[in-house]
This record gives sequence, structure tokens and C-alpha cells, in this order.
Amino acid sequence: MLQAKVAVVTGAGSGIGAAIARLFAVEGAKVVLGDLAEGGAAFAAELADDGFEVMFQRVDVTDEADVAALMQATVARFGRIDILVANAGIPERKSPIHQLDLDDWRRVIDVDLTGVALCNKFAVGAMLATGGGAIVNMASILAHVGQENSNAYSAAKAGVVNLTRSVALTYARQGVRANCVSPGYVDTPLLAQLPAAVRQAMLLRQPIGRLARPDEIAQVVAFLASERASIITGACINADGGYTAI
Ligand SMILES: NC(=O)c1ccc[n+]([C@@H]2O[C@H](COP(=O)([O-])OP(=O)(O)OC[C@H]3O[C@@H](n4cnc5c(N)ncnc54)[C@H](O)[C@@H]3O)[C@@H](O)[C@H]2O)c1
Repeated sequence: MLQAKVAVVTGAGSGIGAAIARLFAVEGAKVVLGDLAEGGAAFAAELADDGFEVMFQRVDVTDEADVAALMQATVARFGRIDILVANAGIPERKSPIHQLDLDDWRRVIDVDLTGVALCNKFAVGAMLATGGGAIVNMASILAHVGQENSNAYSAAKAGVVNLTRSVALTYARQGVRANCVSPGYVDTPLLAQLPAAVRQAMLLRQPIGRLARPDEIAQVVAFLASERASIITGACINADGGYTAI
């Protein structure tokens, strides 16, 4: 499905991003794994050992020069960028807003919203040079429904959804599609950081009665990134086991 495509995946060293990177590689893409954590390098080495054409580049998505360098390194190695998955993200410290920690707010907005914008900025530049491409930004169900004590994360993810629509409209006639995916609760290290009681409450609210697996989210991302979704732009697919249907 992604034969010979060149893809950049951020946050590719763990969880959903790692599942996306592996699926893309299996489907024939050349994959550049961008991550802040060096664990991404080990995962890229594992994929390379499996015979896939991949490369790791350390990136902090909040750093404009870093993001520019990620896209430049991709073009230098593989000649183009066909697909961007802006997936890197962090959770927030949940609190009622009257106890909001401004440093935490700024950090989450910086990574989860500004980081996505910067990745879109530099990937679009490369895509326009080669006639187009596909962007998939990682949102969340919390972009669409409220949740008690969620502040920066909900605001950032809602921002990602509407930013994606604007990017889609801006480049619709230039061959660049932009969409997002809103996962529900997915079994990844991000969720593992949360208290057990919070995880249990999540399970109880899941209509399908279980958490999603990272590879299930990767399938949706791969579809949107592929030519099979050629008519889809500016959309957001909820991959949430029915959470937002309630
Ligand atoms: N796990 C869930 O239930 C869930 C639900 C909805 C949305 N999401 C979103 O999916 C995405 C991936 O989440 P995950 O659960 O796989 O998380 P994860 O913690 O397993 O992986 C996130 C990756 O992003 C990287 N990262 C963090 N900050 C970065 C930065 N500044 N620059 C570059 N890389 C950075 C981390 O090093 C890590 O490898 C996030 O955007 C998250 O908000 C997750």
C-alpha cells in the first residue's frame, strides 16, 4: 500500500508512533523515525535488522531548527517526503483549572500543538517541491469531547483538528492532503504513566470494553496516508472503539 513512499514519523520510538513506523516499513515505505528519546534509535536499528529501509533522527518537535533538520535529513537520504505523521505528544498533569500549573500548560501546548504545526510547516515545503503528499496529524478523542480536569491536552488536540482543516484547505489544489486521527484509549507507555485508578476508569468508559492496540491506530493512519484515501482531506477519523458515539 505504501510501496516506495518516503515517510517521516515523529514520536516513532514508542507506542503508536512505533507501530506506525513498523507498519509503514512492512508496507514498503522508507521511514524516517524522529524522536526526542534515544530509544527511537534502538527501535530504528531493530527495523533495519529486519531488513527495512529506515533512519533515525533525534528531534525535539518544539525546536524549529530541529524540525527543519529532520525534514532536510529525510530529503538528503531519500530524495523526497511523501508522508508526514505528526504523532509525537505528551500527556498533561490533570488538575482543576483553578490549580493549573502554567509551566505544564506551556509544555503540553508546545509539544502537542506547536510541535505539530512545525512538522507540518517543514514537511509541506518538501512535499510541494515534489508535487504533493499526505499529512496525518495525531489528535485525540479529547479534541472532540470534554473531560474533567483536562486542560492543555484537550485544548492542544482540538487545535490540532482545526489546524489540520486549515492546512488541508490551503494546499488542496497542490496535491497535499492533511487529515487527523483521534484515538481513544490506546495501550501504550503514555497511558502506563497514569495512576491505576485512572486507567480503570478509562476501561469502564470504553464501549468495546478494552483499550485499543497501537497497531489498530497504525492501520487507520496507513489508510489516510495511502492513495486509497485520495479523496479524503481535512477529515478527522475517530479510532476510539465507540467512545465518541455515546
Ligand atoms: N495512548 C493513548 O491512549 C492516546 C490516545 C489519544 C491520543 N494519543 C496521542 O498519540 C500520540 C502518541 O502517543 P503514545 O501513546 O504512543 O505515547 P508514547 O509516550 O508511547 O510515545 C510518544 C513518543 O513521543 C516522543 N516525544 C515526546 N515529546 C517529544 C518531543 N518534544 N519531540 C519529539 N518526540 C517527542 C516520546 O519520546 C515518545 O517516544 C500522542 O500525540 C498522544 O497524545 C494517545
